Amino acid sequence: MIVRVLLFASLCVMSRGLDNGLALTPPMGWVSWERYRCNIDCENDPDNCISEQLYMTMADLLVSEGYKDKGYEYVNIDDCWMEKQRDANGSLVADRQRFPHGIKWLADYVHSKGLKLGIYEDFGTFTCGGYPGSKFYLQEDAETFASWGVDMLKLDGCYSGIDDMEYGYPAMSFFLNQTGRPMLYSCSWPAYVVFYGKIPDYKKIASYCNIWRNYADIQDSWDSVRGIIEFYGNDTGNFSLVAGPGNYNDPDMIIVGDYGLSYDQQRVQMAMWAIMSAPLLMSIDLRNVKPEAKALLQNDYLIRVNQDSHGTQGKRIMKNGAMEVWTKNLGFDDKGMAFAFLNLNDGGAPFEVRMPLYQLGLNEAEGYNMTEGFTGKFIGVLKPHDIINASVDPSGVWMGIAYFDC
Ligand SMILES: *[C@@H]1O[C@H](CO)[C@@H](O)[C@H](O)[C@H]1NC(C)=O
Ligand SMILES: *[C@@H]1O[C@H](CO)[C@@H](O)[C@H](O)[C@H]1NC(C)=O
Ligand SMILES: *[C@@H]1O[C@H](CO)[C@@H](O)[C@H](O)[C@H]1NC(C)=O
Ligand SMILES: *[C@@H]1O[C@H](CO)[C@@H](O)[C@H](O)[C@H]1NC(C)=O
Repeated sequence: MIVRVLLFASLCVMSRGLDNGLALTPPMGWVSWERYRCNIDCENDPDNCISEQLYMTMADLLVSEGYKDKGYEYVNIDDCWMEKQRDANGSLVADRQRFPHGIKWLADYVHSKGLKLGIYEDFGTFTCGGYPGSKFYLQEDAETFASWGVDMLKLDGCYSGIDDMEYGYPAMSFFLNQTGRPMLYSCSWPAYVVFYGKIPDYKKIASYCNIWRNYADIQDSWDSVRGIIEFYGNDTGNFSLVAGPGNYNDPDMIIVGDYGLSYDQQRVQMAMWAIMSAPLLMSIDLRNVKPEAKALLQNDYLIRVNQDSHGTQGKRIMKNGAMEVWTKNLGFDDKGMAFAFLNLNDGGAPFEVRMPLYQLGLNEAEGYNMTEGFTGKFIGVLKPHDIINASVDPSGVWMGIAYFDC
């Protein structure tokens, strides 16, 4: 026990990441990109275009539909919010038609709801959507965001190179810090490094960024979700080890409540994002969420696993064809665990899993209080050689939570 405590103490000192007091647990909120993309046609599609009205509506719904009470607090603007030109002083300007009151006013509105406002920029010469990028304007843009009352910045990497990013992303981290306003810093940097076939230096990235994307953008499909889970299962470069309070890998937005996933597949995304300690940033139309999806998004057991204060990122510990086993240690004493049996088959019958607890790494002889992960239903007190029986649907998951009661 003493050895374990000392080990943690030294790890904490050694792997200290960006220290701005933010993202102590994975950030939760809403972001426009996957669902609303670069829809700037407010004349023909006023309810769905990128505009101050959209963000105000979503802020209202986060509160009135109960999401805020569950911890969803960021309202994040994504690409296509700007004018195509900076102003005469070189400052960024929000699109004058679609954001007639400007971003500071919108931030005040979002804050009045007890929520936080995130914004999007790009390290390169342009954003991915072709709006002015931050290259040569990093300090000015950091100061602009601070003056508007922004709480989070996602900095994308289109129209730049990975060699420049080595300097640019740390520089923006410095300029954000210099403003004196704590702003959660989300870096797309490693996703571009991976895209070019290289292994990112995750320790370095964690010392400058709170969260970071490391794989392709999520799409509204099971193929996309499965690909992301496989990337995280491979854990190339051991990026899971860098996760912890202040620093999280970001497998991208939550699409539970959109069009592309079956109910089983939506359960998989929520369970796996909880086990991976992933940011929970929903990109869905909060005006129109099916009750079953809303119940998943607001599931207390899953959110508790996701928000565990230790911030350990769960890992794939077994892979046998389409059958995978993932575990995430919970709490500082390492004695609680969330685990998932995942069936990545596209068809066929459910897998019938029979697994003794010790194969999951649950070795306390006194046994564990075992509960089903989605419902909290008590299964029993199980000892290391006791067996868990689970039926796992195709493209489905069975999740359990084991608590050691000492
Ligand atoms: C440019 O900066 C000056 C001095 O701070 C200010 O008076 C002026 O209003 C700014 N112009 C624009 C277009 O914001
Ligand atoms: C700036 O960095 C220092 C040193 O890491 C930290 O103590 C401080 O909280 C940071 N401030 C902001 C606003 O991020
Ligand atoms: C995961 O690793 C396997 C085996 O090395 C590889 O075939 C697969 O492409 C990888 N998947 C992803 C998404 O990185
Ligand atoms: C990842 O960690 C494993 C041991 O857990 C080690 O063998 C491997 O070399 C590490 N890989 C990288 C790229 O750091």
